[in-house]
Amino acid sequence: MTLILNRKDVASVLTMADCMNVVEDAFKELANGTAVLPLRTVIAPPDGLSLYMPAYMKNMGALACKVVTVYKKNPSEHNMPTTIGKVLVQDPATGDVVCIMDGGYLTAVRTGAVSGVATKYLARNDNNQIAGIFGTGVQARMQLWAVCEARNISKAIAYDVSDNALNNFIAEMSEKLNIEIIKAKTPDDVLEADIICTATSSPTPIFDGTKVKPGTHINGIGSHTPNARELDSEIIKRSKFVGDSYEACFKESGDIIIPLNEGVITKSHFYAELGEIVTGKKSSRINNKEITIFKSNGLAIQDVAAAKLVYDKALEAGIGANIEI
Ligand SMILES: NC(=O)c1ccc[n+]([C@@H]2O[C@H](COP(=O)([O-])OP(=O)(O)OC[C@H]3O[C@@H](n4cnc5c(N)ncnc54)[C@H](O)[C@@H]3O)[C@@H](O)[C@H]2O)c1
Repeated sequence: MTLILNRKDVASVLTMADCMNVVEDAFKELANGTAVLPLRTVIAPPDGLSLYMPAYMKNMGALACKVVTVYKKNPSEHNMPTTIGKVLVQDPATGDVVCIMDGGYLTAVRTGAVSGVATKYLARNDNNQIAGIFGTGVQARMQLWAVCEARNISKAIAYDVSDNALNNFIAEMSEKLNIEIIKAKTPDDVLEADIICTATSSPTPIFDGTKVKPGTHINGIGSHTPNARELDSEIIKRSKFVGDSYEACFKESGDIIIPLNEGVITKSHFYAELGEIVTGKKSSRINNKEITIFKSNGLAIQDVAAAKLVYDKALEAGIGANIEI
């Protein structure tokens, strides 16, 4: 039998705090050599992109593959979302696919979760910190949720080029997280924050890196191609740079590739992978003045850890539909 879990089922059992725990474990496995993480395979049919993201984690007993597609004409021509994802969870003992689940909500939560883990290790630890959010779409919601799990946050400041998106975000998230969210009029307003998340669809820098306060921590999650970036060269140069994966950063992230090509930094500016920080192989923040950046490209280990968590919890709760395939 194969367990089928729709988006509602996934959302009913997946919390940010639990997801942060398993994502942290996944990065430990990656750093300790017990994870298998092939590069994602990308196929480009005429109308879109199809990505295959498999991973295996030995200690977690987790084996799965996410299939995610990005078809830009879907909304206008097929009344379907641009990005669609599903995760196939396997039994590592037999190889059988034991569960197929929706991957949309799971992707957003696991992307929030990795920023939460990075914030836990890299941000200052004072009370009453301010969170700053650039972009107020699907991912931004999970970024703010994760930062609120990782640190004591007194209020948030959010900015978006779309006033409509910003208003909806403030209404929804201030109620969900029970915090005050202030509407930023300009990108500069957000730079008052102690912990900043960039979760926009912008291909060009979204704030002036010279204006970021000492001691700030930044989670950069939006851009993920070599020619696009949310962060300018100045903020990259001023910061201690941690990435989810060295390989992914130098293959996929314009945030670091562009300043490298400009000659503003060398490859040695990449300080550590997140796994090296959470296992203590490399030290995290060393004082309250450092600016730290975590660059997230999105790794299959995050999806697989989150999917295993959802599968186990769904079995426990007795939810979903069992289908003989
Ligand atoms: N790192 C990862 O693992 C990961 C995972 C999922 C998505 N993403 C990426 O995150 C980004 C956001 O995804 P989403 O699903 O939230 O998209 P979305 O379309 O729901 O939201 C993006 C928001 O960014 C805003 N925006 C665009 N330019 C801006 C600017 N200059 N300043 C402020 N706001 C701006 C848009 O108005 C929109 O509200 C995308 O680029 C997506 O590919 C990354």
